[in-house]
Formats: sequence, C-alpha cells, structure tokens
Amino acid sequence: MDDTPIGRAAQQAVEAMNRAGEGLPRPARTRVMVVANQKGGVGKTTTTVNLAASLALHGARVLVVDLDPQGNASTALGVDHHAEVPSIYDVLVESKPLSEVVQPVRDVEGLFCAPATIDLAGAEIELVSLVARESRLQRALEAYDQPLDYILIDCPPSLGLLTVNALVAGAEVLIPIQCEYYALEGLGQLLRNVELVKGHLNPRLHVSTIILTMYDGRTRLASQVAEEVRGHFGKEVLRTNIPRSVRISEAPSYGQTVLTYDPGSSGSLSYLEAAREIALRDPHVQQAQQAQQAQQAQQIQQAQQAQEVQQAQQVQQAQQVHQAQQHSGMAEGTQ
Ligand SMILES: Nc1ncnc2c1ncn2[C@@H]1O[C@H](COP(=O)(O)OP(=O)(O)OP(=O)(O)O)[C@@H](O)[C@H]1O
Ligand SMILES: [Mg+2]
Repeated sequence: MDDTPIGRAAQQAVEAMNRAGEGLPRPARTRVMVVANQKGGVGKTTTTVNLAASLALHGARVLVVDLDPQGNASTALGVDHHAEVPSIYDVLVESKPLSEVVQPVRDVEGLFCAPATIDLAGAEIELVSLVARESRLQRALEAYDQPLDYILIDCPPSLGLLTVNALVAGAEVLIPIQCEYYALEGLGQLLRNVELVKGHLNPRLHVSTIILTMYDGRTRLASQVAEEVRGHFGKEVLRTNIPRSVRISEAPSYGQTVLTYDPGSSGSLSYLEAAREIALRDPHVQQAQQAQQAQQAQQIQQAQQAQEVQQAQQVQQAQQVHQAQQHSGMAEGTQ
C-alpha cells in the first residue's frame, strides 16, 4: 500500500476484513476477465475499477485495461488520459507495446491501468482494415511480461470490434447486471456473441461471473430481478450484491475508487467481499482445495483403519492371555 492517508485507511479496512478469515489465494496463472454488457450504465466501469482495487488491496497484482473511448475507468482510477498520453489506442492500432502505456494507480499498490484516450473512438473503424483485427489486444497482453494475477478489461456499451478484441483476449466474461426492469433484455445478444467468439476465435471463453449492481433491497423490483437472474444463471451469480450507494457514485469525481474514498462504506465492503468470492472461485484454487480435502479424508480413513487394526490386535492379545490363563488353570487342576 502506498504511504498516503487514504492508502493507509483502505489497507486498514482490508486488514480488518481479513482478520475474520484467512488471506486470499492468488491464481496460479493470470486470470483475464472481460467486463461486458452492451447495455449502457449498468455498472461495468464501476465494477471494473472497484473489483480491481479490492483484489489489489487483497494483495494481488492487477491491471485494468480501459477499452472504452469514454475513458471512465481511467478517470475513476485517477490516471492521466488526455489526448497526448500513450494509451490503449496506440497498442491496438499502432502496435505499441503495452508496457509503454501502463501507468501505476496512485494510492493502491499493485494496481495498474492502461488508459483510454478519445483517440479510441476512431479505433472501431481503423481496426477494420488491420491484420488480425480481432486479436490485437490478445497479442498485446501475451507480449506483456510483467507478472499479473488479474487483468480486468472494461468494455464500451457496444458489441463492436473493441468488445470482440476483449472477448478474444480473455477467458472469463464478467457481466454486471443492474437490478431494474428490462435487466435481462439484450443479454441474449451478448451471450450469442460470447458463443460466436468461443466457437471461432477463443475456445476458452465462458461466462464465469454475474454480479448484481445498484441493488436496492428495499424495493420488490430489485429482489424480483435478483431472483430472476439467479434462476436464469444459477452458480455464476455472485452471492454478494452491490448496493446502490451514493459513496460509490461520488468516488470517480475524486479520481478514486470507493475503496480509498470511503473504505468503511457498504459499497466498499461489498466490492471487497465480491472480490473475495471471485478469488475463491478460481478453477485452479478450487481444484487445489478439492485435492487437499480428498487428501485429508484419506488420512482420516487411514488413521481409522490403523485404530481398528490396533483394537483387533488388543482383543486378540486379551483372548490369548485369557486362553493361556485358562490353560494354566486346567494344567494346575490335572496335577
Ligand atoms: N452501486 C452503485 N450505486 C450508485 N451508483 C452507481 C453504482 N454503480 C454505478 N453507479 C453509477 O451509475 C452510473 C453508471 O455506472 P457505470 O459508469 O459504472 O456504468 P457502465 O456500464 O460502465 O456505463 P457505460 O455503459 O456508459 O460504460 C455512474 O454514474 C455510476 O457512478
Ligand atoms: Mg463504462
């Protein structure tokens, strides 16, 4: 954690949470998560930056790739992204190495951002005529040699070439769904695109995580939407809902995530909890946990078996002693 007052406050909030449980496992290899929903304003950017900060505060090294010409993720992370700054546009269109555009995020150690500038607005059209237009981000990420635990890609609200580049580069799709009427509308189209990219360009791609945002527990509509989404997607939906919170919406105007803006707020704690769920859902971590549980079960079984053998031996010895006593009694009687 950077040694600034807000940095320290955020770190203290995480330490308070971690005291309740053990620290979080880090993934065996970099998890690339594509935050997508072509519907506007559902909480993609808010979720990207706050989850990224939460994971970094939990000790992971995290890169946010801002793939939206609006540059909202760069703003929220307080990263410079005026027109002259080297940006993700240069990476996609000019083949600039990613390492030349990545900037560290102030206040949160281990968090980095590849910013988006207004240039990116033209990229959808400029990419069309370029070689390997769908896999330019994937190539850039593969060539990036800094160790990372997570890469979170913030997509624009469309299903154009920028989003396709994200879907080709990542393995996991994270879909934020706003708890409001029409929440599921348009999702079919996103899911069809995920299937198309999976079928033709990226066989590893799958929807791994759904997160319910702007949840207002006081309204029936929110709980109805949550129920519907859970019914539809099941285990992909995180148990933690992100509440509607003024602190979450205020934070970007200070160039901060809610984690540093108001570490103890419900919004901050819910993103930390969502990050914990995501870290524990890592397929590799789950496999390791299952292997550990199986090993423990085997050890218990072996210990039980050893105990049974020992008991049987004791019974046998007692019987032998008894028989020997009877024998010597009988011998004495015959004398
Ligand atoms: N949990 C929340 N509580 C209150 N306001 C929120 C919450 N999440 C997001 N917002 C606000 O809702 C608006 C839309 O959020 P955000 O920008 O994250 O959505 P988006 O899906 O990235 O939008 P776009 O499609 O334009 O990229 C923003 O003003 C943001 O501050
Ligand atoms: Mg956005």
